Amino acid sequence: MLVLGIETSCDEMAVALVEDGCRLRSNVIASQVELHARYGGVVPEVASRQHILQLVPAQERALAQAGASLADVDAVAATHGPGLVGSLMVGVNAAKAIAYSLEVPLIGVHHLEGHVYAAWLAYPDPARDPGFPMVCLIASGGHTDLVLMEGHGLYRVLGRTRDDAAGEAFDKAARVLGLGFPGGPAIQRVSAGVQPGPPFPRAWLEDSLDFSFSGLKTALLHRAQGQGLYPPPPEGVSEEQVASIAAAFQESLVDVMSTKAVEAADRHGARAILLGGGVAANTLLRERVRRQSPVPVLVPEPSLCTDNGAMVAAAAYFRLRRGERHALDLDVYPSLPMPGS
Ligand code: KG4
Ligand code: ZN
Repeated sequence: MLVLGIETSCDEMAVALVEDGCRLRSNVIASQVELHARYGGVVPEVASRQHILQLVPAQERALAQAGASLADVDAVAATHGPGLVGSLMVGVNAAKAIAYSLEVPLIGVHHLEGHVYAAWLAYPDPARDPGFPMVCLIASGGHTDLVLMEGHGLYRVLGRTRDDAAGEAFDKAARVLGLGFPGGPAIQRVSAGVQPGPPFPRAWLEDSLDFSFSGLKTALLHRAQGQGLYPPPPEGVSEEQVASIAAAFQESLVDVMSTKAVEAADRHGARAILLGGGVAANTLLRERVRRQSPVPVLVPEPSLCTDNGAMVAAAAYFRLRRGERHALDLDVYPSLPMPGS
């Protein structure tokens, strides 16, 4: 079954073709990073307008890369939440139009379920090996959730952030340190090979599996102010000072996420830990979870961790296989809860 997947929940216009939920035929991502970088973050109105311009070219490229035509498409999927309402609407409406014209099934996919299913594109059949239940740490610009996946489409939220998402914390910290947008890759880059400065506090929240990153963000701001790095002085800042703060910040975020993921796996008898979402592209996080986890760690390559259409098509396949589909009145839901939870 060839599924066309569309992902437009935020600032990436992504279209992909995936066969049987696991074979990547094409994966086109039209990034808007440069457009939003000048504002220091995603501007929703700009994102949705750009999606409209990018949609048809992205779809044509995805078909061309796969050597397929629209007539080969067996089903169409789009992220229908959570995300920015205007951005979601572009992808969902396009999916509806394509499904209607081709007379093929339409399905809306939860963005975080998409991040989970990126692992099905990277490993032969995670449902069989290592098998369920798995603890999924889904860390992105909008979410930091620990979810127990007990079967296809069966999720139990074990913990989530009480304030900022991990990606959001990376982005805000990078802004204070003058490292630009998006912040995660920038912080990772300047921290590479750097001895982290004095440790930042970790919010363990007693034995809860929730997260809290806003205190860490404030601590970083205070340290940057204390060292005269923020607001940026006219004579410029010391790159070494910035790097040592960035590295300590990354260390703190990674330590909390990794420790809680391993703790969740232990408490719930998970057979694996699955990492997904843009922050799962972080090298230190990937290494740390692999080192600390007593069970196998599933972590797709970085390009499948950040937003893409292939993960949407993969997640859709497993729902379509169970006979699920949506009618043409499918709507978008900016705060869509995790399905089956
Ligand atoms: O999943 P994603 O692509 O989009 C959302 O669903 O939000 O995640 C984007 C987030 C951004 O906050 C970005 O800074 C972060 O993922 N990110 C990273 C890395 N690459 C992207 N954070 C840490 N390290 C990275 N290498
Ligand atoms: Zn995402």
